[in-house]
Amino acid sequence: MTEKQQYWILETKHCGYAFGLNKNGILVNTYWGKRMESQSDYPAPPESDGWASFNGPTQVLQEEYPAYGGMCFHEPCLKATFEEGVRDVVLQFESETTINNELVINLRDIHYPLKVSLHYRSHTDFDLIERWVEVENFGKETITLERVFSAIWHFPVGGEYFLSHLTGRWNDEFNLVREPLTPGVKVLESRRITSSHHHNPWFLVDDGNCTEDNGKVWFGALSWSGNWKATAEVTNFYTTRLGIGINDWDFVWQLREGEIFSSPHAICGFSDKGYGEASRLLHNFIRDELVPHNKQVHKVLYNSWEATFFDVNEPSQAKLAKIAAEIGVELFVVDDGWFHRRNNDKAGLGDWWPDSEKFPHGLTPLIEKVNRLNMDFGLWIEPEMVNPDSDLYREHPDWILHYPTRQPTLARNQMILNMARPDVQEYIFSKIDRLLTENNIAFIKWDMNRNVSEPGWPTAPGDQREIWVRYVEGLYKVWGDLRKQHPGVIWQSCSGGGGRADLGILKFADQIWVSDNTFALDRLRIQHGFSQIFPAVTMESWVTDADRGKIPLEFRFHVSMCGSLGVGGNLLLWDKAEIMESTYWISHYKKHRQVIQFGDQYRLSKKSMQYMSKDAEKGVLFVFQTESNLNNSPITIHLRGLNPELKYKVEGLQEILTGAEWMSRELSYPFKLYESAMLEISAY
Ligand code: DGJ
Repeated sequence: MTEKQQYWILETKHCGYAFGLNKNGILVNTYWGKRMESQSDYPAPPESDGWASFNGPTQVLQEEYPAYGGMCFHEPCLKATFEEGVRDVVLQFESETTINNELVINLRDIHYPLKVSLHYRSHTDFDLIERWVEVENFGKETITLERVFSAIWHFPVGGEYFLSHLTGRWNDEFNLVREPLTPGVKVLESRRITSSHHHNPWFLVDDGNCTEDNGKVWFGALSWSGNWKATAEVTNFYTTRLGIGINDWDFVWQLREGEIFSSPHAICGFSDKGYGEASRLLHNFIRDELVPHNKQVHKVLYNSWEATFFDVNEPSQAKLAKIAAEIGVELFVVDDGWFHRRNNDKAGLGDWWPDSEKFPHGLTPLIEKVNRLNMDFGLWIEPEMVNPDSDLYREHPDWILHYPTRQPTLARNQMILNMARPDVQEYIFSKIDRLLTENNIAFIKWDMNRNVSEPGWPTAPGDQREIWVRYVEGLYKVWGDLRKQHPGVIWQSCSGGGGRADLGILKFADQIWVSDNTFALDRLRIQHGFSQIFPAVTMESWVTDADRGKIPLEFRFHVSMCGSLGVGGNLLLWDKAEIMESTYWISHYKKHRQVIQFGDQYRLSKKSMQYMSKDAEKGVLFVFQTESNLNNSPITIHLRGLNPELKYKVEGLQEILTGAEWMSRELSYPFKLYESAMLEISAY
């Protein structure tokens, strides 16, 4: 706290964030941006009497955590109904506590027994601030919560802003969009029970002068794998704000006596070094703080899905495994099709034991073969789902999300289990736990291949609309318990590709299957979007047969080598030359993956990526010609992230120059369509 009374400043390495009570006791945000020289430089909380008779003070001010009440018509963070039907929340400051890097501001309603605690955790070295809220009912009567956002952020007054976000659909995820924010509300959200292919719970706001390397950016992400909502609002007073949290669409939460509702955590940051630095800050945090096996290099994997689809059995997989081992694969993953009566997508989901015709002696003989080839073994599961044609559904038809009077909508012939139910959680845990206990399984791909319909829960203990939160909590519980029980297993999150890629799932999964789209050019675009948030180590990328015969294998390998490399083509069809070339690229990747997976990433352009080790001693540069380039114009780039004083050699170029010299020099690659390069950068 400064000499300003009841004023709080959070600082990280380069960022400052401040808010305080104004004279009328309104908690107002005063600053979010570059860290000030001195704490006394942060502005004092402004006052306002409102604007004519139509707008109260809170309509004009930048409230730190606005609740729906009084004459405030903006998007609120909190909306609640009290027993008497009162739908007006008036929060007042009550107390504060600070423990280590965590500040808690306690607010309470002026009449009702509702306490709202705003939590702030400064991650000083990561240059990020984490925020969440807890809402407590300390009275006897139930309070109905209708919206609880994790945070709202205000951007400097007077600015005009642009919002960048990621949008898409199945097979076409992570398209980066940048658009001006104009008066009104722009809503991004998921109503699909997962974070979704369609939008990602991430935002970046800039003031119009932003590039990859320069300019002010304010950014954040929500750590939540279910329905979420972000509202970016330009008010009638030309101030701009953005709130994020669990989606209030179809959401209700009955907060009973003594209960606390905790929101998901949100993370936010500011940088004056453009998009690139914003991504690197998130990358560091995700890699070092969230992802469970954060120090472990990801092995080169082979996934059999695109080779054998449902035609999985011991001989077919063993043949693939043999070739996979020859080319240098370290982890062999059997995808969909291995379990009870799973011959196509019409049956089997829910019955998580090996199919007795395909694997008459269980999975062990195949796993042993794979292990003898010096590879780990991995397996695909889709535990939240059930086919009508399954033993599980025949026994427990009431376990799915459903309304008793409606026919459940099938998508890919499957329905969604109600993960909020403890019996469903126990069933899934016991089946997957058994698989992991009885078999030497090092890796699990956890898939989810449809979105929600009929989100009913007839036997819900409270309001059925709590399902949106309780489903995700159930998912986290099962996954978390499995992790605890089998700490060595590496997990991949997949939802038909990138349908569940968020900071919440990365507390459980070590990596993400980014998209089912493995066409190299599409993939480069998708990876570009993905890299806005997620580090390369989490980005599983396979070389498949998608462009076989059309785009050189070298180019396809280079695309996948930008993340955690995998192979997904039908190796039985690959000729000698392809096998030899794959062997070369896989071994080359292994030499450089430490830098790619754990280094800093620089998007030099949409056609070029650079990775530098944290000590700036080693780097890798990828360049791709993605266009027909009829004019023969070269791809030109400037290297980034070198130590200006160190001397470096860049593969393919003769000179030994200092980092400063290299970074100011334009490098030029006159490539033809589908030519690519992977070049080593090394301190000399
Ligand atoms: C969707 C995934 O994204 C694919 O990689 C594959 O695992 C299939 N599901 C299997 O059903």
